Amino acid sequence: MTKIEVGLGSRSYPIHIGPGLLDRTETLAAAIPGRDVLVVTNDVVAPLYLERVCNTLSGFRVRQLVLPDGEAHKTLATVEKILDALVNSGYSRDATVLALGGGVVGDMAGFAAACYQRGIAFLQVPTTLLAQVDSGVGGKTAVNHPQGKNMIGAFHQPIAVVADTDTLGTLPDRELKAGLAEVIKYGAIMDRPFLDWLELNMSDLLARQPAAVAYAIQRSCELKARVVEMDEREHGCRAILNFGHTFGHAIEALSGYGQWLHGEAVAVGMLMAADFSVTRGMLNADEAARLRRVVEAAGLPVTPPALASSAFMQAMAHDKKVLGGRIRLVLLRQLGEATVTDDYPADELGRFVTNALEEVAS
Ligand code: NAD
Ligand code: GLY
Repeated sequence: MTKIEVGLGSRSYPIHIGPGLLDRTETLAAAIPGRDVLVVTNDVVAPLYLERVCNTLSGFRVRQLVLPDGEAHKTLATVEKILDALVNSGYSRDATVLALGGGVVGDMAGFAAACYQRGIAFLQVPTTLLAQVDSGVGGKTAVNHPQGKNMIGAFHQPIAVVADTDTLGTLPDRELKAGLAEVIKYGAIMDRPFLDWLELNMSDLLARQPAAVAYAIQRSCELKARVVEMDEREHGCRAILNFGHTFGHAIEALSGYGQWLHGEAVAVGMLMAADFSVTRGMLNADEAARLRRVVEAAGLPVTPPALASSAFMQAMAHDKKVLGGRIRLVLLRQLGEATVTDDYPADELGRFVTNALEEVAS
């Protein structure tokens, strides 16, 4: 088992990564402050892992809430169900919300924990690769608004993250690949040697070779932890973690949430951001081509869907990184080095998006 610390003073917490952790009471229960736990999961994950988690927490007063699966349910209405369950259980401020599932469950359970009685403890038990390398760590919680992804939310750090790597054994291939998009992201924005490693080990990762998968999770969590420690609330450098997300969120929102997986949209978004970096003269075209090959090797999409460029630009303008009406983009200077900028002519971005989408349509 690997343990990584996220150092945030009084809000510091461990990330435990390893096989069999769902059954280890000492790991799962260690951080829980009181007796009351609400396990929030969904109807896909519940039959696989809910009973095991409840057995491991047999010393606690555990209630369960099983939500419908899917990004389309990542709404305020679903969060209200979680809040109702907390109220109806008579839980007080020392209760803990345990999120068992992927990023959708984690983001909603975390947001409910942030809101209930102005904030109660929240334990992340991520069961997708994407959640184990990204959404489970860092305390961003949110739901979608029809006009914008993750528009309503709060920063609320978990008390611990318990990533049982065995749970990835039941993950569909498409979801595994979506998680790899976020893993590639870390290499692209801040760790070129990790990107080299990913290039060499992609087939082992796709074959779910345990040591390779464990290292990819560990390195991703180490990198994310360092960024979150420097800039917990995204006043500065944390924004680089959104590489590919401004373009990707537009794809997700315009395709209807759930059609494109988040990781798939991020994969294409990263390539669009890299291409725009080339257009801006910041990045060498060979580097962008190399990133494309890595994304392709992970079995991820590399072209956006056919969408109208005006709608695409409008969707990008709803991104949370927009400040003072300017869309701030995460661009690459080289593989392993990203920068956040709004220093580009707006019409240049418009032309770039139009060309990129026209290429797909033609
Ligand atoms: P998800 O939560 O929808 O999970 C993907 C699918 O896999 C779902 O059908 C789920 O039920 C199923 N599943 C989960 N674990 C499984 C398992 N072990 N075996 C079989 N099936 C399993 O999607 P995701 O990719 O985990 O997360 C995407 C969400 O995370 C998006 O809403 C995105 O906005 C959010 N996100 C948040 C952050 C953050 O920092 N908070 C970061 C990245 C992404
Ligand atoms: N996934 C982006 C972040 O956590 O900041």
